[in-house]
This record gives sequence, C-alpha cells and structure tokens, in this order.
Amino acid sequence: MKHKVVAIFILILTFYSTFGQSPDLPSDFLNKEWHKERRQKLRESMPANSVAVFFANAVRNRSNDVDYVYHQDPDFLYLTGYREPEAVLLIFKDNQTAANGTSYNEIIFVQERNAMREMWTGRRIGAEGTKSILGFEQAFNGSLFKKYNVDFSKFAEILFYDFQNDVRDNPRDSADLYSLIEQFKVKINYPKKDNSLIAAKEQPKNNLNTRGLYPLMANLRGVKTKEEIELIRKAVMISCVGQVEVMKAIEPGMSEREIQGIHEFVFKKYQAEDLGYPSIVGGGHNGCILHYTDNYKPALDNKELILMDLGAEFHGYTADITRTIPVNGKFSPEQKLIYELVLSAQEASMKACKPGVEMSHLTTVSREVVNKGLVALGIIQSETEKHLYFPHGVSHHIGLDVHDKGNRVLEPNMAITIEPGVYIPNNSATDPKWWGIAVRIEDDYLVNKDGCELLSGYAPRTVADIEAMMKQPSPLQKFKLPDINPKK
Ligand code: GLY
Ligand code: MN
Ligand code: MN
Repeated sequence: MKHKVVAIFILILTFYSTFGQSPDLPSDFLNKEWHKERRQKLRESMPANSVAVFFANAVRNRSNDVDYVYHQDPDFLYLTGYREPEAVLLIFKDNQTAANGTSYNEIIFVQERNAMREMWTGRRIGAEGTKSILGFEQAFNGSLFKKYNVDFSKFAEILFYDFQNDVRDNPRDSADLYSLIEQFKVKINYPKKDNSLIAAKEQPKNNLNTRGLYPLMANLRGVKTKEEIELIRKAVMISCVGQVEVMKAIEPGMSEREIQGIHEFVFKKYQAEDLGYPSIVGGGHNGCILHYTDNYKPALDNKELILMDLGAEFHGYTADITRTIPVNGKFSPEQKLIYELVLSAQEASMKACKPGVEMSHLTTVSREVVNKGLVALGIIQSETEKHLYFPHGVSHHIGLDVHDKGNRVLEPNMAITIEPGVYIPNNSATDPKWWGIAVRIEDDYLVNKDGCELLSGYAPRTVADIEAMMKQPSPLQKFKLPDINPKK
C-alpha cells in the first residue's frame, strides 16, 4: 500500500513537471507575437535611455489559508500574457549587454516551478514556459532577480508605478512579490522614508519617474488592436445574452441574487473566466445606488424596475452593459417616460461620438437632454438647476479594465461606454409618483472613422423591444428547485 502511494506520488510529480501549461487552457488567448509587439510599441514611446518596470498583481488573502481568486495586473497581462503572480518585467529603451555578451532589451523574472506547490494550486509555466509559451528570450526564476545587476543609476529615467505598500510578505519565499519589490527598491535607491512618491508633491530629483508610465500605457491600451476588438465583441455578446435570458425569465417574486445568478450562469456557459466588476442588480429604489452590489433583495416587486449592470470578462477583456426593465414585463407610464428620456440622451451622445471629440462632451450632450426632459416632466424647475438625479459622467474606455486606460479624445478603435441614467430616490423633492424610479442604459461602442458602432445592440434597448422580449418563454420558468426551508 505504501509503495503504491509513493508510486502515485511520483507519477503526479512527473506529470506536473512534464507539462508546463494545462492542456485545458484555452488555445485562443492573445498569442506571444501580439504581446511582443505591444512591448515593442511601448519601447518606441519610451523616453531616451529609460527602463520601464512592471510588477505582477499581488495575491490577496481572504482569510486564513484562503486567497481571493487571482487576477493579473492588466498592464502586466497586456505586455506579457503571463497570468501568474510573483513576477517582474523590465523593458529597456536601448539594448543591454549581459555579462556573457548577450544583447537584450527586455527581461522577466517569474514564479519558480515547484512540484509540491503545483499539486495544490495548479500548474505554473516557470522560466522555461515563459520562454517557450510566451516567447521571452530572457526569462528567469524570481530568485535570480536579487543578483541581477543592471546599474540603474545609468538610466535617465526609471519608469514604474509607485508602490502602495499593501503587499504581504511571505517570509518563507524570498522571491515573492514583496521580496521582488524590496529588491527593486534597493537597486534603484528608492527613498527609504518616502513610502509613496506619488504622495510627495514633487518628484524627487533623481531618475525615478512614477508618473510617466501611466500616459504611455493609456496611449497604447486606449486604442484597441483587431485581436482585442474580437475579444471585446465576444465579452459584449456574452453579456448581451445574459440580459436577453433574464428578460425572458424574470418574474415578480424572484430575488436580485437569482437574477444575478442567471446572468453569471450565462457568462460561465460561454467560458467567460471572470466578471469585469462586481455585478449590480438593483430592484426599485436599489437601482438608485450607483454601485449597488449587495443584491440582497429577496423578492422583486411586481411594479418596480430592475437595473442590471453586468459585464462578462472573456480572456481578460470586459463588457460593461446596463439594462433596466420592468419586473412584470410592462413599463408603467412614469417608468416609460423616464426610460425614453434616458434613451434619447444616450442616442444624442451616440450621435456625437466620433474621432476628435472629447469624452466629456458625450456627458455634456446627455446632460442637456436629461435636464430639458426633467424640466418638461416637472421633476426639476429649470435646466440649470443643480440636482442629483444624474450624478455621473456617461463614458469611459473598456478593455482589460472596466474603466480602462485611454486618452480622453476619441480615436478610431477605442472601445467605450455611453451610459446616461436618471435616479429618483424615495423621498426626493418631487411628485412621489416618480420615487424609486432608477434607469441607466449603458451600451458599449467601438469608435470608427466617422462615428461609432453599437456593439451591444443584441440586448433590446427600446421600450417596445424590451416588452416584446419579455413575452418570450424561458426554459428557466420550468426550473424549480426543492423547498429546503424546514417545515414549521
Ligand atoms: N459598471 C461600472 C460602470 O458602469 O462604470
Ligand atoms: Mn460603465
Ligand atoms: Mn456599468
């Protein structure tokens, strides 16, 4: 028996050390050439004689021995395709020469392979996989970073994001993210007392630059490549299907969490790995809470609207779509008036969306339409009146982040949202017939050369189309679970 256990153990170790990457991983991730080209583009935009340094995201502990599900830092993923923690990437403007005479302009230090650890937490690609799968020529185990001796004082600029000092040290791992950061600080002469350079009003008078990287990455990430657009289209379609299935399945008495579950089941059915952000599902008054993620309400009311803001994340790219629908399938006259006002604001901003336009202009356009409409409905008295019924801007980039990096002036191949809303909380200083009405309509768009393309039109947006879709049958209406409440 003992021999059998040892044999199985050896078999497992062999298995894990033979294959770097799980055979079940999708084969349609962005490929190594794509990531390499992105690094080259960044290099071209970097200042003379500089180095850019990026760290993988930290592993976050939930409690005891359970961590939150790991999510790579979007810049790190964009530049490398590496999905594991405990890694640092250096991109040089100019070629460097290694001690053995090798010339290189980028180098990455990654998490070491460890058969025992991989038995618990899954396969790691290690330095070898980082070479073969991700195409790096210079890839090493993190434990070698400490000895890596580029003279950082020779660079005119060292570009990096400042540290938030919120990374935990694993004292048993001298190549964890904490150690890599501490080793880097020593190498670059990071001021000991200044915990955060960003907090300091002035950048220190040395070659450390914690502000220069953001605009370079925003410039790059804001305009999507055709491969990224494909992934965004996929994330958007998946999220639209979620909205459609809920429109067919929803009934009064369902809970907010149940509705959330239908969306997220659809996401998973299409192999979306994650959510782009915590799902917002708010019935009635809860829709007025802009980032409502409690989703606690146990039974949706027959007469209320439900606001559903959810985005599937597919291969790193996220959608960001909101639909607001009547729980019982038919908008009341007041709900319809507010809904159509928000839709007309969105249509106006969509018409204004084209290259050369500032994103803030899209907010101005929506705001004008909403204010005019609120006056016409008697909800506010004048178009210039300050009010809280539309408290946010209407547009941001989407991509690897839901609020993605990108420049504020629109260019072709930017992916953005347009998302006006009107929220009238209970007890507002207006006729109670409007109370508890919260409407946001959020769609995703691709800027093209003379306007923008609506990507999320598969999910109905007009009153007529939503009401028609809500009449469609859903297989979920037949999906009944046993009553698990104890009999009284
Ligand atoms: N879901 C977050 C947002 O709409 O910006
Ligand atoms: Mn949004
Ligand atoms: Mn949203």
